[in-house]
Amino acid sequence: MIYSRIAGTGSYLPPRVMTNDDFAARLDTSDAWIRERTGIRQRHIADESQASSDLALEAGRRALQAAGVRAEELDLIVVATSTPDFIFPSTACLLQAKLGVKGCAAFDVQAVCSGFVYALATADSFMKNKMAKNALVVGAEVFSRILDWNDRSTCVLFGDGAGAVVLTAGAKPGIHCSVLHADGSQVDMLSVPGNVCRGRITGSPFLQMNGQGVFKYAVKVLDEVARETLAAADMTLADVDWLIPHQANVRILEATARRLGLAPEKLVVTVDHHGNTSAASVPLALDEFVRAGKIRSGHRVLMQGVGGGFTWGATLATL
Ligand code: ACO
Repeated sequence: MIYSRIAGTGSYLPPRVMTNDDFAARLDTSDAWIRERTGIRQRHIADESQASSDLALEAGRRALQAAGVRAEELDLIVVATSTPDFIFPSTACLLQAKLGVKGCAAFDVQAVCSGFVYALATADSFMKNKMAKNALVVGAEVFSRILDWNDRSTCVLFGDGAGAVVLTAGAKPGIHCSVLHADGSQVDMLSVPGNVCRGRITGSPFLQMNGQGVFKYAVKVLDEVARETLAAADMTLADVDWLIPHQANVRILEATARRLGLAPEKLVVTVDHHGNTSAASVPLALDEFVRAGKIRSGHRVLMQGVGGGFTWGATLATL
């Protein structure tokens, strides 16, 4: 049996930091409201010259360096993003070119905030089926581009960034298993319901959300998919060192941990200083905790995504 293993992690945050007070200076909101309802105190915002592929490049280079793998050795690049540089080609192809390599398979996965878990499960399947030996899996987003900056109920929630892992094939896990789900009937709960048609935007180019609906749905499915993934791996929560849920907001994370009965010290929280970075949130959090020496080799990590679609899923991995 061949497994895939996370051999290195990397991440990148654009330098510009936007605090809650920066929003309060131009909108009817406050640092206290945003902190109390979301736990977010700041987020990073990409410069206009930076696209998702630029953020992905920085995160990808750092993950390759940490893994000791050269870009030339990659045979698969998967980028999870809902904010691609172009309609086509894929951000993964643009990233491949920026890495200075060619030939390996490269494509995007679009599952919004579940994108990284979907991409990880996809790359893991490629490796288990002997279709790849070294894969770069990236979550990269510039959500600041799809926000209505006058809508206080959404624009304060998100940030930009990228996180990446290098997967290498090996004889032992590595990734134990992944579980993925979707329910397309929930399309109206969270969407950017627009497109480009004959040179014009049709529909809306801005994120729309039923905040309370998302909150309830997210807590429910994060709880369910954690249990389902552990059962599929024949493990229990006691076997998990760290839970990294999609970093939507602190209240969703804490409610999920409470429902699961997870010890608070096992819950990874970075949304307070990253904001919600959609598909980038899980690999950004993973890399931050790896580089801080908190998540170490041999630790077992349960990563979870939930987002528009609705989509949700989880991957259980030993580092
Ligand atoms: N500052 C001040 N007041 C605000 C703000 C703000 N930034 N945003 C909304 N309000 C106001 C509303 O206008 C409303 O005012 P009203 O009573 O006069 O009408 C009031 O606050 C209450 O609004 P609610 O929407 O009921 O507030 P709620 O307590 O539900 O909090 C929030 C809103 C934070 C969005 C919450 O519903 C939530 O966390 N939902 C989850 C959403 C989420 O995490 N989305 C991320 C994307 S999805 C994902 O990643 C899975």
